[in-house]
Amino acid sequence: MAQYDVVIIGGGPGGYNAAIRAGQLGLKTAIVEGRGKLGGTCLNVGCMPSKALLHASELYAAATGPEFAKLGIEVKPKLNLAQMMAQKAESVEALTKGVEFLMKKNKVDYVKGWGRIDGVGKVVVKAEDGAETVLETKNIVIATGSEPTPLPGVTIDNKRIVDSTGALSLPEVPKHLVVVGAGVIGLELGSVWKRLGAEVTVVEFLDRILPGTDTEVANAFQKILTKQGFKFSLGAKVTGATASAKGVKLTHEPVAGGEASTIEADYVLVAIGRRPYTQGLGLETVGITPDKRGMIANDHYKTGVDGVWVIGDVTSGPMLAHKAEDEAVACIELIAGKAGHVNYDIIPGVVYTSPEVATVGKTEDDLKAAGVAYKVGKFPFLANSRAKINHEGDGFVKVLADAKTDRILGVHMVGPNVGDMIAEYCVAMEFGGASEDVARTCHPHPTRSEALRQAAMGVEGWTMQA
Ligand code: FAD
Ligand code: NAI
Repeated sequence: MAQYDVVIIGGGPGGYNAAIRAGQLGLKTAIVEGRGKLGGTCLNVGCMPSKALLHASELYAAATGPEFAKLGIEVKPKLNLAQMMAQKAESVEALTKGVEFLMKKNKVDYVKGWGRIDGVGKVVVKAEDGAETVLETKNIVIATGSEPTPLPGVTIDNKRIVDSTGALSLPEVPKHLVVVGAGVIGLELGSVWKRLGAEVTVVEFLDRILPGTDTEVANAFQKILTKQGFKFSLGAKVTGATASAKGVKLTHEPVAGGEASTIEADYVLVAIGRRPYTQGLGLETVGITPDKRGMIANDHYKTGVDGVWVIGDVTSGPMLAHKAEDEAVACIELIAGKAGHVNYDIIPGVVYTSPEVATVGKTEDDLKAAGVAYKVGKFPFLANSRAKINHEGDGFVKVLADAKTDRILGVHMVGPNVGDMIAEYCVAMEFGGASEDVARTCHPHPTRSEALRQAAMGVEGWTMQA
């Protein structure tokens, strides 16, 4: 019987980063994954394939729309959807193989099959052919991730009514795609199909998009998407959907009460959130009971049962790959007797649309609710020379700093490339930086990063360029 220091159940960003760190620290480690490939949701059906399609569709839209023509580039692009999907699949395959290589490099055993906890210190893995392997271990790390939340009354068939996985592989460009949920998945994958030619209608329960995001940023972003042709039906409750071979009839009614309406679409994407995944995991054998949402609670990744740890989407906090990765490293370091730690106040969030939305720290709504005195610095991309010359002036940067100490409390942006640029503020905030620190840091010209600096200057009231 195999004897380990750590057995990790789940091969996503949480699981594989935990495995790498454990290997680096000399712990005898196994990773158990049931889907046949490492990389989890993120690499197989999440972050990476969605970004492959966002990248390709953005270029296609630039070439087909007025953008190229305005630059003096005249082309007649033709969509080859099969090739777009094939290059996505190839990149995903390369990434998952890369993770497999990293397991070997770090001397981690990759055990293929579905893992089930069978009491403290024991994991039983059932392979595709039904064969079972027993792994004995000092520590079990649960990293089983999440799955799409179902919508009552709407059956996902992944033909006409799809979840995010189905929406990453539609066989054709829909004439009309209805997206249920104006969250990250709905707006990213809605953007992909919109750029490829679909009409896109987003039906959202709340009266705003991107709940949890700074309201001013979300409202500005909604205006930009509307300008791009998105249609929004906010404050609307979906009451049912019927699919046929031709398409879907979706009914919804105002949340505030009123008349029901029917929308016809050829495809419907349901993206109303994700829920923790713990099916068949044998939690009862160690006395762990998930909460009502299916989530396993943790205190510094400890489940409350000695030797059983939990990280990533299956536990509390934002369901983001980089959060799972950070927890993975911290959890393994704690197992190895080191001081692992994650700063949950500085976990950035990005929506990879065009323009992008990026956010870190407290929103203005949070600060108002908590009664914190703050100062605001703002800078529009229209006044940033690089963004202007590139014809990408939509959006702005907003920096929130403590009124007394000037410490940066939150940064919220919509604009070109802001998903990469937010990292500058993450570092500044990790160092306990003040807005003046960023304002007095030399930034290269001409770059869009200067807008981030100008917004910090704005906190002190000495923005130079707007
Ligand atoms: P997962 O990645 O879900 O991995 C869990 C793995 O465990 C799965 O492979 C599953 O098969 C396996 N498993 C489950 N139970 C068992 C078992 N009993 N035995 C063996 N194996 C098991 N996040 C970002 O930060 N940026 C993005 O751009 C982004 N884009 C996304 C786009 C989409 C369409 C989706 C759906 C998600 C996106 N996410 C993104 C979220 C991101 O994918 C998750 O936060 C991340 O994958 C969580 O990592 P994890 O390791 O906790 O779980
Ligand atoms: P989400 O939580 O981001 O958004 C769901 C939306 O659906 C919300 O606006 C919510 O109000 C709405 N909603 C809920 N119930 C509804 C109903 N019955 N009818 C209509 N609307 C309803 O969830 P989403 O978009 O499914 O994504 C899941 C998670 O995956 C995200 O929270 C995020 O953690 C992760 N993700 C991250 C990405 C990134 O970092 N770029 C990209 C994609 C996913």
